[in-house]
Amino acid sequence: MATHDLVVRIGGEGGEGVISCGEILSRAVARGGLNIHAFRTFPAEIRGGLAMFQLRGSDGPARSLSQSVDVLCAINHNAYDAYVGNIKSDGVLLYDPAFVKIDDRLGGRRRIELPLDAISNEATGASRAKNMVAMGALLAVFDVPVEYGKTLAGEHFGTKGEDVVRMNQGAIEAGHTYALQHMAEIRKPFNRIPDRDQILVNGNEACAMGAIAAGVDFVPGYPITPATPIFEFLCRELPRFGGKAVQFEDEIASLAAGIGASFAGKRVLTATSGPGLSLMSETLNLAAMTECPITIINVMRGGPSTGMPTKTEQSDLKFAIYGTSGESPRCIMAPLDIYDCFWQTVRAVRIAEKYQIPVIVLTDQALAYTSQNIDTPDLTDVELGERLAPPLDTDPETFERYADTENGISPMPIPGVHELMYMSTGLEHTPKGAPNYTPANHELMTAKRFRKLTALGRRVVQQSHVEEEEPEGVEVGIIGWGSTYGAITEAIEQIEADTGVRVAHLHPRILSPLPEWRIRQFLGPLKKLIVPEENYTGQYAHFLKGKFGIKPIEIHKAHGVPFTAEELVGAIKEEL
Ligand code: COA
Repeated sequence: MATHDLVVRIGGEGGEGVISCGEILSRAVARGGLNIHAFRTFPAEIRGGLAMFQLRGSDGPARSLSQSVDVLCAINHNAYDAYVGNIKSDGVLLYDPAFVKIDDRLGGRRRIELPLDAISNEATGASRAKNMVAMGALLAVFDVPVEYGKTLAGEHFGTKGEDVVRMNQGAIEAGHTYALQHMAEIRKPFNRIPDRDQILVNGNEACAMGAIAAGVDFVPGYPITPATPIFEFLCRELPRFGGKAVQFEDEIASLAAGIGASFAGKRVLTATSGPGLSLMSETLNLAAMTECPITIINVMRGGPSTGMPTKTEQSDLKFAIYGTSGESPRCIMAPLDIYDCFWQTVRAVRIAEKYQIPVIVLTDQALAYTSQNIDTPDLTDVELGERLAPPLDTDPETFERYADTENGISPMPIPGVHELMYMSTGLEHTPKGAPNYTPANHELMTAKRFRKLTALGRRVVQQSHVEEEEPEGVEVGIIGWGSTYGAITEAIEQIEADTGVRVAHLHPRILSPLPEWRIRQFLGPLKKLIVPEENYTGQYAHFLKGKFGIKPIEIHKAHGVPFTAEELVGAIKEEL
């Protein structure tokens, strides 16, 4: 059965409510039985600048952002300026004639006047609700019942009082009526997907839910865009599950508190973004040295420094892997879509607990602020990570907290639970925990700590922690990581449809320790390897070069917005 896809972009000034419009529309369209992929990007300022929300509704899979749009709804002239070139040749511009002046750039594309300001004023006596006029009109374009939008607007604006809700519901009704009269021909005929057990979440929410499912009981935090919503979610929800989220004075203090809680036996997770991870770096080494399990969700944004806090970039990889003083074992992971944000968070906490190491999960602004409807995770599949506890009959005199075991994992007693005392310090120490700086001891203990990564690396391969598509006889392959998964997958499908050329795809979820054997096997038959990344320098490609001595073709994008499948199709075809 043919699938239908509709991509709508709404653009306007920050503060005008583009994001609220997009959020409510997304929920209504998902409730209307479509798969959605919704992305937003906005400036770092609270008001002003250009805010954009893009919604892709589809009765097929909607895995990635699209560069070209079927419908551009321009609330102001800035949005028209920025996005007119992205309207498909058979697409349509919806615009408010009071604010948007059309020029040659629109070419032969269709335009339909949507006087948002005038309709809002007439229906509600104010301009404030013009974003909801747009929402009502777009509901009609997606052929979704207007009641869905009105109910969801009631929930969205509920805390602002009944008058605000009533005003917005009036605006939605007016926009919907206008669209039925003036743009009925652009309605899309979707095949509605029957009721499914799904939830609509973004990457941040999925990570936060994953943390709860993983049994996290302490979340020390310090707010930073775009990771703050994870902390806010957990502050709100974790107490219901017996846990606690506490704000500290900065990232260093929050991680230090996390190590304390972890030492005391709690499962700990914190969320931050690049600058916060930099601040945490030395405390992270303390976690590695004291072998205290800890999970950090690092939501990458454009950097360095304050950089572009509300824009996406895959640029913290090198820092996550190598940003240590001394040699400090850690595991670096990267979920590949929203659903995966849930499961990789669960897995990260499990790995941290089992191997007693810090685990850094690299998501990014694009995942954080992309919403998708995903299957409700089956909680019976959640496997909790347990620390290796000392046997009950352990002799306190001979007990070694940092025992030099075969896989490097040593028994970790919980103070007050196990009657075993030990010293835990950032200084190099003996298996018993006492400071010791002899060459032989340092070598022994460094090797012991790193053996945990070797053990983990073996398991990574066994459990195939990679998403793979590897048809027979292919000569071209792509290795990607993190949020580029959807765009790469769609690009490969498109290339095959256009040219008949098949392309292999490997997308490791655990980036370090690398699933080396699996990657070597993947590279074996290839004549060309392409590594697309959303950064300027090709960080993962360099990592692979260092490990395997290969020379991949690198595709870089450092624009602050994610790859689209169309962009990748173009770039990959050039290489083919
Ligand atoms: N009726 C009543 N209120 C409405 C409304 C309507 N029709 N439409 C929007 N609003 C309200 C929203 O509820 C929101 O109110 P709140 O601030 O109380 O939550 C406000 O107007 C802004 O609307 P919203 O739709 O959320 O966003 P926007 O599209 O106007 O864009 C942002 C504003 C998101 C760009 C901006 O507020 C922001 O957050 N910028 C980023 C800040 C940041 O993280 N900086 C980085 C620091 S390092």
